[in-house]
Amino acid sequence: MKAVTDMRRHSRRSLFGTVVLLGLLLSGCASDAELDTLSPKGETARQIDGLLNPVLAIAGVILVLVVGGLIYMSLRSGVREYHDEEFPEQISHNNTLEIGWTLGPAVIMVIVAVLTVTTHLVVNDTKANAVEVTVEGASTSWEPKVVVVGQQWWWEFRYYFSEDVDAEMLGDPNNLPPADIVTAGQMVIPAGEEVELIVTSRDVIHSFWIPALNGKRDARPGYFAKWKLSADDPGVYFGQCTEFCGLSHSRMRMQVVAMDHSDFQEWINQQHEVPAQPADNDDDPVSRGAAAFAGNCTSCHLVEGVNSDSYNGAAVESGSAPNLTHFASRSTFAGGILNTYNPDGSFNRDDLSEWLRHPEQVKANAANGLPDGVLPRGMPNLGLSERTISDLVAYLETLGTKPSAEILAATEVE
Ligand code: CUA
Repeated sequence: MKAVTDMRRHSRRSLFGTVVLLGLLLSGCASDAELDTLSPKGETARQIDGLLNPVLAIAGVILVLVVGGLIYMSLRSGVREYHDEEFPEQISHNNTLEIGWTLGPAVIMVIVAVLTVTTHLVVNDTKANAVEVTVEGASTSWEPKVVVVGQQWWWEFRYYFSEDVDAEMLGDPNNLPPADIVTAGQMVIPAGEEVELIVTSRDVIHSFWIPALNGKRDARPGYFAKWKLSADDPGVYFGQCTEFCGLSHSRMRMQVVAMDHSDFQEWINQQHEVPAQPADNDDDPVSRGAAAFAGNCTSCHLVEGVNSDSYNGAAVESGSAPNLTHFASRSTFAGGILNTYNPDGSFNRDDLSEWLRHPEQVKANAANGLPDGVLPRGMPNLGLSERTISDLVAYLETLGTKPSAEILAATEVE
């Protein structure tokens, strides 16, 4: 009886092992994987792919030679019992072999080194590619450049159209000069253009990575790191913070939204609009939501036209919280993990309500119950009533222009 039970247990275990192995193997076949590193959609990502493929090919040949040689020799010679007189022929001090297995790997290393260094030079090179944009009615020649700021656990993107942005002009990462556009979670860029990035952090080390468009660049507090990316075509490209940065590191996502030139110009125009604030009316949920926002959210979040005069940074560790002026113009929120709109195009009231109700459950953080003097990291649970939550959701829906149906369809956050 015991033997039968053991057998069953054993076969169950091997079935479980097979399923796990198969699952892992098949997960490599996903055709629509958001973070696929092997499907470049931009120039720099293609250059990296162009380095990866020959290196993989060389590694593959070596793998076949070594494993093949091992199998061949073990089949041919096997393991036998040796007697003194049959001891195999020794090959030490064989000059041909010694030179061969020194030169062979050396040549391979030189080939890989040349490929690596030439790719490295190309991917770090930037070119002048100014585009004409109209900013608040004035035509400007803009060298596409975006300042990328990581913090626990979301990304900020800042656009300065009138100045040539560099580390000197930016000064202190924790006190950056006012920008023309400040957005969160999603970086909007013109498609087909090289966009230079200046990557920094306001708290701990993060790493910026949009696999389809380029490799990774660390965001380090106190430093400005240069990076770049470009997208061949309009679309949404997914990214993920890739440096462990605390509780919600895995939920620190971002997207690049690439637009053709006229849509990009339209986006710039929309980002400069200041949303109209509702008149006081106790019967209107939007009006009540605006009042609730002013009462509960303005010590961290900024909405132009509401608290732009009094805003002086957020009461959190990084000193910054997402600028919500155009909240509804982004197709994701909460650090790029939740969709702002449902698949049918309606506003995602359910997820937004849950985020306001239990932020610490949607996304682990350290924002409540902290010892004195320790600043929160992430969105605190404010203990809002259901009515306040519903009013705030109604108000947030009015902030900004809804993204196009194409962008909404392309933003599938799981
Ligand atoms: Cu930010 Cu990991």
